Amino acid sequence: MNGGSPRTGAEPRAPEPSLHGDERIAPPPEPTRVFSGIQPSGFVHVGNWLGAVRNWVELSTRLDCLFCIVDYHAVTVPYAAAEMPSRTFEAALTLLACGLDSERGILFVQSHVPEHMELAWVLTTLAPMGELERMTQFKEKSEAYGVQAGLFMYPVLQAADILLYKADGVPIGEDQLQHLELTREVARRFNRAWGETFPEPRPILTDAPRILALDGKGKMSKSQPEQAIGLLDPPDVIRAKLRGAFTDPARKRRFDPGNPDICNIFFLHHFFSGPEDIARVDRDCRTAVLGCFEDKMNLAEHVIDTLAPIRERADELRSDPARVHAVLAGGAERASAIARATMDEVRRRMGLRA
Ligand code: AMP
Ligand code: TRP
Repeated sequence: MNGGSPRTGAEPRAPEPSLHGDERIAPPPEPTRVFSGIQPSGFVHVGNWLGAVRNWVELSTRLDCLFCIVDYHAVTVPYAAAEMPSRTFEAALTLLACGLDSERGILFVQSHVPEHMELAWVLTTLAPMGELERMTQFKEKSEAYGVQAGLFMYPVLQAADILLYKADGVPIGEDQLQHLELTREVARRFNRAWGETFPEPRPILTDAPRILALDGKGKMSKSQPEQAIGLLDPPDVIRAKLRGAFTDPARKRRFDPGNPDICNIFFLHHFFSGPEDIARVDRDCRTAVLGCFEDKMNLAEHVIDTLAPIRERADELRSDPARVHAVLAGGAERASAIARATMDEVRRRMGLRA
């Protein structure tokens, strides 16, 4: 600690606060309950997987976990009612194919547990308007779809999702940190107003908290499927999407040397390719031995191989849809038991239905 060159002359200063490497700060304790959610608004993509879902699978092997398909969040933007059931089913199927299962953790659909709505209303009375107005996602989505109160209250419903289960760990991508900060604020305000009830949940990030879209413009997201690799995309679709992907923008011609440090494709190699391949790409890109096109096609094969087991499990599950529905029904039942207990406590503390 503080192992840099000694300071001279000045007053001894406290070491810079650091998240890592300061052994006086004990690592945060393991969470006792984990909660996270995903919207059923398109396919589950590589950004979801690397930023969150991969972690869900790992955490579910050793901690008490709930994972929720948040359909009431998805209705805050226009959608076709006829498509919602299949979107919800596909999200569940993909998560199961990634390795979640009913033995390890609870997988369920938000609208199957109405207490989410009930707690969300209670929390609106504590949520600071100013902070809701500052939410990046609110600003972006209201620009795209028009301002409405559902988009505005979106983070309050998210807080309700988490607090309903008194979760203290929330595995999410970086884009959700702002929403989680609001959840923490709302939990503190509830505890101050009505007595200690909720833990302040902490985010759990992966080593890929923000995967960029294939065109390098903003994050990979469900709203731009052509710029995202779906976990269940067939091999030819993955090849076609990567063929058009952006690399180092300064590398204009084939024999210009590239800079892997700023290349989205090289970043993706870290999660799909082996160490030798990564070292070779790093070297051969900088010396222009390797062209971008060849490298993208090389990455495509690694992505296809890595995702193959997920696709195979998804195909198996697709032939047995009753199994997916049974997992969701069982999940809703188990989640409901926890949700009802929390709402009983919330009502009791607030003097409701006494
Ligand atoms: P959503 O697709 O918005 O329902 O997101 C589900 C989860 O995936 C959340 O925890 C997000 O933070 C995470 N996530 C979504 N897109 C990305 C991305 N491009 N990179 C990393 N994590 C992401
Ligand atoms: N807003 C999250 C997203 O778009 C989804 C979500 C809803 C969520 N409720 C949650 C994530 C609770 C974590 C915890 O990705």
